[in-house]
Amino acid sequence: MTATARAGAPFLPAETDHDLAADVREALTRHPRQLPSRYLYDALGSALFDAICELPWYPITRAETRLLTAHAREIVSGRPAPARIVELGAGNGAKMAALLEAGRPVSRPAVHLVDVSPAALATAARSIAAVSAGPIHSHQTTYDAGLAEIGATRGDGRTLVLFLGSNLGNFDPDAARAFLRDMRSALTTGDRLLLGVDLVKPERDLLLAYDDPLGVTSAFNLNLLVRLNRDLAANFDLRGFVHRAFWNAAASRVEMHLVSTAEQHISITGASLALTLRPGESIWTESSYKYTRDGITTLLTGCGFGVRAQWIDGTSPFALTLAECG
Ligand code: TRP
Repeated sequence: MTATARAGAPFLPAETDHDLAADVREALTRHPRQLPSRYLYDALGSALFDAICELPWYPITRAETRLLTAHAREIVSGRPAPARIVELGAGNGAKMAALLEAGRPVSRPAVHLVDVSPAALATAARSIAAVSAGPIHSHQTTYDAGLAEIGATRGDGRTLVLFLGSNLGNFDPDAARAFLRDMRSALTTGDRLLLGVDLVKPERDLLLAYDDPLGVTSAFNLNLLVRLNRDLAANFDLRGFVHRAFWNAAASRVEMHLVSTAEQHISITGASLALTLRPGESIWTESSYKYTRDGITTLLTGCGFGVRAQWIDGTSPFALTLAECG
């Protein structure tokens, strides 16, 4: 958290290496083996993700930014204007900055940035300060803890929560529902949610988006092992793993895996864990669920939100939905 936020609000501790060790141990001993995707975003991971957003094969960021810019006034200046705007998973802050720049909210809303990456938060706070006159608070924490802080610190006026980048798609459907219900409970009637979710599209487009020919997504995924080598004194040999992405049509999700190319003995000292990977055995690092327009509306309605507007980018099917707490 920044000094501003620490002075102004009760504060839940950000995650520690202890969480990392416990989470890694728990996920890697599951069947199939997994790693929690939020640990992808260390300083290098956040920079690689920024690079993914620039790739010609990853259209999500551009589609969403077009929609945010085109509808900014309605989103941030519609009556009653939001007193604070919270972004969960703000990353480099470019979308919040684009929204504020195009929407020019007269209410000078407070901006709250929630992200696990301190590097991303520092960049975000700088780019938002350039376009916004209101106070900026950084919360270096998870979505859940960020929501709890937001729920505990409401003042007068409306809250607008941004949950963009198809981050909801990284939850499985039950978890997505549970998360939206928690969000609804942290908010109050009249508060709003701006949700950006990627839509089902042809398989070849999805695969290029998550397994790009330049290898940036592969590097982003493999960097999770670099992080574990550094932060948990693990001994992953990166040359023994390949990035794999495939479309699971039955589940409507792209799955990202790190596949071991040989039998490997891995020790993760900081997590008191030793394991043997078989050739071809995979570690599942992320899923990206793809939705339909109706699917998004049904999901939101079932979680206590009413849909006020839904905008679709035609170039690469993507939905930006403005919902309100009923
Ligand atoms: N929220 C992003 C998405 O689902 C995250 C993401 C993009 C991602 N590319 C990735 C996660 C590659 C892991 C690997 O599109």
